[in-house]
Amino acid sequence: MPDILSPPSPGALRACMSRFATGVTVVTYAGEDGPRGATMNSFTSVSADPALVLISVARRARSHDQLVDRPFCVNVLGAEQEALARQFAGAPGAADPRWTPGALVPRLDNPLAWIQCAPWRSYDGGDHTLVLGQVVDLGHRDGDALTYAWSRFGAAVESTDGIEHLI
Ligand SMILES: Cc1cc2nc3c(=O)[nH]c(=O)nc-3n(C[C@H](O)[C@H](O)[C@H](O)COP(=O)(O)O)c2cc1C
Repeated sequence: MPDILSPPSPGALRACMSRFATGVTVVTYAGEDGPRGATMNSFTSVSADPALVLISVARRARSHDQLVDRPFCVNVLGAEQEALARQFAGAPGAADPRWTPGALVPRLDNPLAWIQCAPWRSYDGGDHTLVLGQVVDLGHRDGDALTYAWSRFGAAVESTDGIEHLI
């Protein structure tokens, strides 16, 4: 039986999690003074019926109280949009974001995919809150995807015969 009683060190946890390659999103919402966003890679698809997606939001993030139990839009970034990921991860000036009105909240102009979500439920996730949204509107374009692995940005090249053609 492995020893599961001692919590992992933050470094060990980061080292394991950094080997899990993800896409990169900017989650946008209607802030008090206009459109706002935060870079997030905790995004995952949860349910097809009803259509539900999940993001995990740090309690200490400015966006936390604006995302929990509020509408939001997940903007999946294309490979050429790394500067937007940096901009919304706390590096203002990295990019010049352009906004487009959305069904529920403003979204970024020209992301690889966008998913507008109405609030569904939220759950305690330790120092994060797990936020589920119900998909109410969405769209996508062609292009390569921005990725994040080994704590670095990368790219995944678009393929015409992905897993969605098998299932
Ligand atoms: C690749 C990447 C992924 C991130 N994923 C998340 C995430 O899933 N949840 C989160 O709360 N913060 C995440 N962050 C950190 C936030 O983007 C960062 O703390 C940002 O400044 C939050 O903005 P805010 O304080 O305006 O909400 C991520 C950062 C990077 C670079």
